[in-house]
Amino acid sequence: MPIKPKLRPFPSHFAWGFAAAAPQIEGAAYTDGKGPSVWDTFARIPGKVANGDTLDVACDHYHRYPEDLAMMAALGAKHYRLSIAWPRIFSRGHGEVNQKGIDFYNRLIDKALELGLTPWVTMYHWDTPQGIEDDFGGWRNRDTVKAFGVYADTIVKAFGDRVKHWITLNEIICFTRMSYGTGQRGPGLMLPEQVVNQTYHHAMMAHGEGVRAVRQHGGPGARVGLTDCSEAFIPLSETPADIEAARRVFVHENGRVLEPMYTGRYAPEFLASLGADAPHMEPGDLELISQATDFLGLNVYRGRFVRAGADGKPEILPFPPNYPAADAEWLTHTPQSIYWAPRMAAEIYGVESIAITENGAGYNDLPPVNGEVLDLHRRDYLRNYLRELQRAIDDGVPVDAYFLWSFMDNFEWADGYQRRFGVVYTNYETQERTPKASAKWYSQVMAANAIV
Ligand code: BGC
Repeated sequence: MPIKPKLRPFPSHFAWGFAAAAPQIEGAAYTDGKGPSVWDTFARIPGKVANGDTLDVACDHYHRYPEDLAMMAALGAKHYRLSIAWPRIFSRGHGEVNQKGIDFYNRLIDKALELGLTPWVTMYHWDTPQGIEDDFGGWRNRDTVKAFGVYADTIVKAFGDRVKHWITLNEIICFTRMSYGTGQRGPGLMLPEQVVNQTYHHAMMAHGEGVRAVRQHGGPGARVGLTDCSEAFIPLSETPADIEAARRVFVHENGRVLEPMYTGRYAPEFLASLGADAPHMEPGDLELISQATDFLGLNVYRGRFVRAGADGKPEILPFPPNYPAADAEWLTHTPQSIYWAPRMAAEIYGVESIAITENGAGYNDLPPVNGEVLDLHRRDYLRNYLRELQRAIDDGVPVDAYFLWSFMDNFEWADGYQRRFGVVYTNYETQERTPKASAKWYSQVMAANAIV
């Protein structure tokens, strides 16, 4: 008998696009008045980045953006999440505005719009100006929050006539705990827990400054949100007991970011668990942090499995060594993470609009053979995650946008250039771009507004 597969379309208003970030693709690290970022400095410390790779040239997007945007549009994307480099706008992060930096983003934004790409602009994707680190101590100091507020005002005033989707910060844990606690990311410090908690608090305040700037200067139709990598917890079985266990872990693990942002306070149990290491706060901080936003951005790559333990307490399960993962070892193949992270954010905090601001897979792809990169592993990863995203939407989870990380292979932080997340292959010697099999597949998905 003939089988008639059902077409399962995404909602008609669903936004499809690509995501990238300035420090990972632009290169031109010292061009036209751009000051160094903590990552430019960190990458020069031997042993910090694989193969001693730097951000100096990256994908040379600073010079090649017209062709890159044209390729994105040709693949069928209608939305593009980009970030602005703070040290391009203010060389030291504060002081004089660098007009050449403003000019560059004017050209980039105008080009995107001309090609039918709606820009979603992240104000900060980890590239703290080195001047902010040197002059104020970076995220350890409240003065950084003030400087960020001035920077946010500057870019919203400059681009707000054309940019209507703003993302304040990208993934707070990566420039707080991992930068000042574990030393894995620029500036690479290993400081006591109280300092780490303080950097989180200041980051949350900077988010508040970003929201304020958009409200004040964003003009009609401006929307603003935060992008978090809220940890995803997957109930081992979809039974009430395991779901409740996963939910409890989610609330605890998001105590530093989503909780204060949506409830206007740090949960008393959470603060109690920090004890003397709790952040120092001043009157007005929590009001700044908890201003209403318009959407929540979630970067979803992986989740951990949770079950209700014998004593009723949630139990986070370790992954066995043979659990499937990408070449980026942290990236376990856990498609249900993209179902549960947005569902819990919506159920627990009442979030009404969620954008998946990143999802993708990092492998050490081999160079093209006869013009082809058959990254079937990435296509499979994406397809499985999109199926779960679709299930979430069918169940009523309010996800209305998806940005694939990433358009092209780029500087993958401490993993350097060997680790490739792009659906377009970057040849770093010639700067040639070759769409991989996954790009062609994703292009069909965007065109059909359905999984193909
Ligand atoms: C970040 C990206 C990064 C990606 C893959 C996210 O945490 O926002 O900058 O390249 O994950 O590791």
